[in-house]
Amino acid sequence: MFFPYTSGRKGMLGSEKEVGRVAQTVVVGVTGGIGAYKACELVRLLSRRGFRVKVVMTDAAMRFVTPLTFRTLTGEPVASSLWEEPAYGGVRHVSLAQEADVMVVAPCTANVIAKLAHGRADDMLTTTALAAQAPLVIAPAMNAEMWRKQVTRDNVAALRARGAVIVEPEAGELACGDVGEGRLAPVEDIADAVEAEACRARDLAGVRVLVTAGGTREAIDPVRFIGNRSSGKTGYAIAEEAARRGASVTLVAAPTCLADPYGAEVVRVTSALEMRDAVRAGFDRADLVVMAAAVADFRPEGPAEHKLKKDAGAPALALVRNPDILAELGERKDGRLLVGFAAETRDVLESARAKLEAKHLDLVVANDVGAPGRGFDADINRVTFVTAEGAEELPVLGKDAIARKLLDRIAEMLARRGQR
Ligand SMILES: Cc1cc2nc3c(=O)[nH]c(=O)nc-3n(C[C@H](O)[C@H](O)[C@H](O)COP(=O)(O)O)c2cc1C
Repeated sequence: MFFPYTSGRKGMLGSEKEVGRVAQTVVVGVTGGIGAYKACELVRLLSRRGFRVKVVMTDAAMRFVTPLTFRTLTGEPVASSLWEEPAYGGVRHVSLAQEADVMVVAPCTANVIAKLAHGRADDMLTTTALAAQAPLVIAPAMNAEMWRKQVTRDNVAALRARGAVIVEPEAGELACGDVGEGRLAPVEDIADAVEAEACRARDLAGVRVLVTAGGTREAIDPVRFIGNRSSGKTGYAIAEEAARRGASVTLVAAPTCLADPYGAEVVRVTSALEMRDAVRAGFDRADLVVMAAAVADFRPEGPAEHKLKKDAGAPALALVRNPDILAELGERKDGRLLVGFAAETRDVLESARAKLEAKHLDLVVANDVGAPGRGFDADINRVTFVTAEGAEELPVLGKDAIARKLLDRIAEMLARRGQR
């Protein structure tokens, strides 16, 4: 029988889970659709599968089903108002968000889909969802016309691109009398999706991961540098997702504007040489290395000690090669899993395959950074995973979703090697 265990990395309420193996917590959000009564069955099913279930409801949901029903089914207080006095100290929506190993919204109205897609947080359910780090499963249910509307499709696509799991509604007779697509998926399917996310939440437990991110800066003088357009978003997303899935993560970060990823140790560097030192220092302790940073191939030969004055005319910059950190790691990988990135503007796949072989890598994430609006400095990208077995082309996805897919693939590779 499946018995879910806690991730044990939650904040305020983590300690009670760390003392032993305790059921994982699923926060079930119920919204104001006619299918709200089916959430009662979902809650029962999740409880039967060994989860601790907590329910949060919108005002509209309480017009369809009462909190009393869920309180009785779960044995837990039901959250519905941001303003009610919490049963214990603290801020309820934050503590609920931290407790969640998985959050599922079922049924999810068109309205809540729109709010989640735009980061709105004007009630207990949407505020909890925004504060949660946990994977989000959404089971939409609505009238067929509402489901077909372009705006709803766009909102669902935006949520999916950010990593939410959508359990698609099915076709059939709807409560409004119409026949069409929009009926809540079977509760068993929703529970299966929750369970899959709960398993994924721990699939990298114990794995020591070293991730690099950002673009290095190579000094010309004390104020100027040669840089590149890397935002660091992909590497940060990988570090955060790996930590969320239980890995112990060190992120070696070249300058970015991003907030530290939750749960990762961050080592800041500026230049390629500093990055090499930091990566070497962490390499021996790592089981998996993901080199997502854009490391400069060249640096100015001798950076000026003082700021160069424009009156002296344009300086001639002599450049020297930086060390190839990834190739150096490939030479002494000794059983570690090594993942590189190939950012190219042409012959992307050929370059990725050549890199895979030449640097003894296990996987190369190839991406065409020449395409406008994606890749460098964007929130979306289109990548291909290249391994010795072949190439897997992904659709255009948000960088969070790419991080998740990459770690799914890596978890599979580790499992095959017997390291998981
Ligand atoms: C009888 C009835 C059934 C409804 N069913 C649905 C539904 O299945 N899906 C949906 O998106 N909206 C449905 N609505 C509309 C929502 O209740 C309405 O958009 C509400 O503002 C949703 O609030 P919430 O998203 O905060 O829960 C229904 C309304 C009524 C009166």
